[in-house]
Amino acid sequence: MPKIRDLLSNNKHWATKKTDVDPKFFERLAAQQKPEYLWIGCADSRVPANEIVGLDPGELFVHRNVANQVIQTDFNCLAVVEYAVVQLKVKHILVVGHYGCGGVAAALESQRHGIVDHWLHPIKDIYREHESALVDLPAPAQFDRMCELNVIEQVHNLSKNYIIQEAWARGQSLAIHGWIYSIRDGVLKDLGVTIRGRDAVEPIYQFGPDEESDD
Ligand code: CO
Repeated sequence: MPKIRDLLSNNKHWATKKTDVDPKFFERLAAQQKPEYLWIGCADSRVPANEIVGLDPGELFVHRNVANQVIQTDFNCLAVVEYAVVQLKVKHILVVGHYGCGGVAAALESQRHGIVDHWLHPIKDIYREHESALVDLPAPAQFDRMCELNVIEQVHNLSKNYIIQEAWARGQSLAIHGWIYSIRDGVLKDLGVTIRGRDAVEPIYQFGPDEESDD
């Protein structure tokens, strides 16, 4: 395990290497960021966003929390989504979960873990909603499936938000993807649940255009 002082010398080494390859790298980045992708992933240290998809600083806007949740009252996540969609105009939002997610595991247990149980509560609701398909699976398969269902649910949660729906209404190209990462082999899998427009959102969650008034 590196010592804390190693981190700073690692950083000097990294910055030098970057400018050796591309002398204007930081100069260009300092001027502006123009990422096309927003990553919403788990805080787990084994899932480093940029590294996994081979993107440089400036190419990926990132929000991470325990178990990659998108919760309609979480201003942290929503502020990131709003900035990414409205200001940066990202074209893709990647909701990325991972197998072996400790947050999903904790939500499936009955023991208490502290504050995080409040945060993970919506994952229990996902289990309840899909219980009939999950209950007979052996524990490892059930855990894997819950990690996938958690991603799918967050993709839907995003699509239910007016920030996203207003972007679609403006004609902005914006796709929400659900991916899952395997910490065993480093491979990402597309769960095939991409949402690209309001038509895919259940009517109760659709925000319509404002009523036209003649006055
Ligand atoms: Co996790």
